[in-house]
Amino acid sequence: MAKLLEVEDIRKSFGSTEVLKGVSLSLDRGETKVIMGSSGTGKSTLLRCVNRLDPADSGHVRLDGEEVTDANVNRMRQRIAFVFQDFNLFLHLSARDNITIGLRKLRKMSKADARQRADRELDRVGLSDRADNYPSQLSGGQQQRVSIARALAMDPDVLLFDEPTSALDPELTGEVVSVMQSLARDGMTMLVVSHEVGFARRAADAVIFMDGGHVLEEAPPKEFFSAPKHDRARQFLTAIGEGEAA
Ligand SMILES: Nc1ncnc2c1ncn2[C@@H]1O[C@H](COP(=O)(O)OP(=O)(O)O)[C@@H](O)[C@H]1O
Ligand SMILES: [Mg+2]
Repeated sequence: MAKLLEVEDIRKSFGSTEVLKGVSLSLDRGETKVIMGSSGTGKSTLLRCVNRLDPADSGHVRLDGEEVTDANVNRMRQRIAFVFQDFNLFLHLSARDNITIGLRKLRKMSKADARQRADRELDRVGLSDRADNYPSQLSGGQQQRVSIARALAMDPDVLLFDEPTSALDPELTGEVVSVMQSLARDGMTMLVVSHEVGFARRAADAVIFMDGGHVLEEAPPKEFFSAPKHDRARQFLTAIGEGEAA
């Protein structure tokens, strides 16, 4: 059976700097993979190429066998939803309306249906009592959960997360991580850039370690954290406080 998401030999340069040097990866339906790697390694660029926020210079992205192209990108983006580091919520809209706006405009849902759907997704992320609050009335963790609910409302095949907890105070990361873990448990397909080792250990089928625009290794979390194959991966783990003493 074809992979749900297939990224094949993606290359991307900014000016004369080649940021992605031929990246390939794939996810089966229901899999969660966590991408780790030092800052500047191309992780965000890779996610942006996957849903064509930045088109790759070459290579292919396929969802369920269908290639993402300029012609179908708007339709495909509804199937490959993106959760950003800094939430990207509309500040002048309530939590509920941040979700209904896309359903109304892109899905042409009636007001009542959109509202019902938004409330269902807010409930799923534990925010049913916050539907009428504006982003400024919500904590960072709650804002990120609204943004996850917004992504879920589009009923995507794949969720992309770019460092979803790195803009949060440490005490707020837990509530976001636990929502993501429950999505993984429910069989959502997720490609997550994150250095949350606990999340990777509990929820990921594999860790993908990127370095210098390449995928250096991919392994189940247990294996990656206990016995990374490359020096660069060992150095990275030490730098984030996960180095093995032995
Ligand atoms: N729009 C852009 N224009 C020019 N350079 C960029 C752009 N986006 C990213 N880069 C460069 O690409 C490299 C990889 O960036 P990024 O994908 O954000 O890395 P990471 O997410 O792993 O920290 C960095 O050197 C960054 O400066
Ligand atoms: Mg980044």
